Amino acid sequence: MNSNCIGGALHLPLILFSFSHRILVAHPKIPPSRCFLSKATMSSLSQPPSPPLAEKVKHEMELFGDVRVDNYYWLRDDSRKDPKVLSYLQQENAYTEAMMSGTKIIEDQIYAEIRARIKEDDISAPLRKGSYYYYSRTLEGKEYVQHCRRPIPICDAPPSVHDTMPTGPDAPPEHVILDENVKAQEHGFYSIGAFKVSPNHKMVAYAEDTKGDEIYTVYVIDAETRTLIGKPLVGVTSYVRWAGNDALVYITMDEILRPDKAWLHKLGSDQCNDSCLYHEKDDMFSLDLQASESEKFLFISSESKMTRFVFYLEVSKLEEGLKVLTPRINGIDTSVSHRGNHFFIQKRSDEFFNSELLACPVDNTSATTVLIPHRASVKIQDIQLFSDHLVVYEREQGLPKITAYRLPAVEEPLICLQGGQAVQFIDPVYSAEPSESQFSSTILRFSYSSLRTPPSVYEYDMNTGESVLKKIETVLGGFDAFNYVTERKWATASDGTQIPISIVYQKNLVKLDGSDPMLLYGYGSYEISVDPVFNKARLSLLDRGIIFAIAHIRGGGEMGRQWYENGKFLKKKNTFTDFIASAEFLIEQKYCSKEKLCIEGRSAGGLLMGAVLNMRPDLWKAAVAGVPFVDVVTTMLDPTIPLTTSEWEEWGDPRKEEFYYYMKSYSPVDNVKAQNYPHILVTAGLHDPRVMYSEPAKFVAKLRDMKTDDNMLLFKCELGAGHFSKSGRFERLQENAMTYAFLLKALNMIPTCGRM
Ligand SMILES: *[C@@H]1O[C@H](CO)[C@@H](O)[C@H](O)[C@H]1NC(C)=O
Ligand SMILES: *[C@@H]1O[C@H](CO)[C@@H](O)[C@H](O)[C@H]1NC(C)=O
Repeated sequence: MNSNCIGGALHLPLILFSFSHRILVAHPKIPPSRCFLSKATMSSLSQPPSPPLAEKVKHEMELFGDVRVDNYYWLRDDSRKDPKVLSYLQQENAYTEAMMSGTKIIEDQIYAEIRARIKEDDISAPLRKGSYYYYSRTLEGKEYVQHCRRPIPICDAPPSVHDTMPTGPDAPPEHVILDENVKAQEHGFYSIGAFKVSPNHKMVAYAEDTKGDEIYTVYVIDAETRTLIGKPLVGVTSYVRWAGNDALVYITMDEILRPDKAWLHKLGSDQCNDSCLYHEKDDMFSLDLQASESEKFLFISSESKMTRFVFYLEVSKLEEGLKVLTPRINGIDTSVSHRGNHFFIQKRSDEFFNSELLACPVDNTSATTVLIPHRASVKIQDIQLFSDHLVVYEREQGLPKITAYRLPAVEEPLICLQGGQAVQFIDPVYSAEPSESQFSSTILRFSYSSLRTPPSVYEYDMNTGESVLKKIETVLGGFDAFNYVTERKWATASDGTQIPISIVYQKNLVKLDGSDPMLLYGYGSYEISVDPVFNKARLSLLDRGIIFAIAHIRGGGEMGRQWYENGKFLKKKNTFTDFIASAEFLIEQKYCSKEKLCIEGRSAGGLLMGAVLNMRPDLWKAAVAGVPFVDVVTTMLDPTIPLTTSEWEEWGDPRKEEFYYYMKSYSPVDNVKAQNYPHILVTAGLHDPRVMYSEPAKFVAKLRDMKTDDNMLLFKCELGAGHFSKSGRFERLQENAMTYAFLLKALNMIPTCGRM
């Protein structure tokens, strides 16, 4: 498919979670079952434990003559060591455990179900890089991965989409570079945030977090012998890149965990002697680090929610230091990459809100040409460069698109691009994302998934248009994608806006007459698109006849930049009312009823949960709020809390009266009322730096005090984890199993005997 010079670029780096968001990720999940209630269960049901009541200590906060009283302010303890606070959290955990003890059998069964779907010993799709195949391996019964490689047998043929890694007895042996299972043994939490092979493939730099607080230690090891090279770099972010074979560039954070300094480290020297390449002093801005696919440049960007500008560092000329690639101009957002004699610049402005794609010669960054002009209906999300091609990731009508363009020879000038090839996809709603590819090849690798299609890796030959499925995640236990229907519907918001909704259900188990239970998921912040992706655990819900849906509400990026702009600042409430409108639409279309509608959101999506619980408590049967950002006004007034300063451009700055009153009108903690609420499960992580555990803790304490119903209100605070819950792949399933058991219990779907 070609269109007149259209395409798109996006900067989302392949790094998953830049520290600039209260991010979600994991969608929910649940399973089918039989049941039985033991005697112990029966007795615990007959005498429900009583919930812990948090002490009230009056704390008044006054601004603009307005006094807010926070009786639970004392629950915030930055040291996370106050015995009184820890004891309260432990009591909440014990209460949750006691309340869920009656459904422990179901929870265990769900856990077993989910786990039985996993092919425990498996490898990722091997990626050719240099003279190796790189991949990760999972082992039976092990929580973490091994990072492996295998030499490519000598061969003159260029890479092809049909290549497979030889594994027979004659194949070169596998080498385990790093086994996370071994490293994790000494820690309750273990997460690798970066794993970067040096350009000569002799060394690996990796960033390790052993607490969940997202503060990393970087180790450099010899890829073959695994011996440590030099001393580790401490107190850094997961932004680490090689700058040639003798140096690393990395980013550190200030005391409010804002990535503010970029450093150059020469291997073998002391961290205290590293030179600071750039210090971003403006506390609305955070630094980001990327490498060009060509490996010739590193890019250090400084970004706020509205503005982004970029410096470049030429790897072969480190002594020249950083140079400005795009200037700092308020409201202009640029992301860049490099190929041949050009930088490629994805540029957003107020006028060109969905971005245009430009190019400029490396030696004159002001001589820009338009490669792909701005289009109001298509957002350019990302670009990926190859020696002969440009790939543009776009979004149109709420769906991702991938288009590949052949570039002129390196010495030719670049002009408006024509004749892009669009990749075709299978499902009506899906997710398609960039994946690391080989710059020098003609092969684009991308990942694909849908609500019914397991995560897949494709290779697409940009010369021939041929697509080959390299890997699809195995789902054991008789899974058949054809038993599931996935579809897109559009709800109408109160102002007439059409809101996309993605839906999936097991076609043989639902009646679609209004009697089916549903779990509706939402997020709606930071211009993040919650694309419909597969989730093995979720099958446990679908296979019990529960419909799963995602409301792609405003504040997210699904429908382009304006979708975001219309769901932030003084329009934030559109996010909440869109979610309510989506729910009402689904009820009206007989996908569910109020009596069977459960909702879930995490992080900023937890704010959504808190807001819609206060606004329309009658509309939901149950709600799950994961690490919810619910104390908006108090947090956003406190610049010593991580993310506050950088998010004045997301939620607004409540030190200004207009924002103060607007935020106060929806902030969940400030709007808990004496009214009936549905069943509620709230989670937190004690070491979470993005949403302090005290926000959900206060929300729960206040709800307990004020609510007028007898529905469940449970709080689970992981004392050994951060924002992304437990770190092991099986440990994590326990959270799913618990959440699903909670939902089934709320829905009265726990069988009392026989099969459910
Ligand atoms: C670090 O710098 C100090 C002071 O300039 C110097 O004495 C020391 O040798 C340096 N250490 C390393 C490992 O480069
Ligand atoms: C860089 O490009 C600009 C805009 O095309 C031009 O005016 C300027 O002369 C160029 N500078 C050099 C050094 O070539």
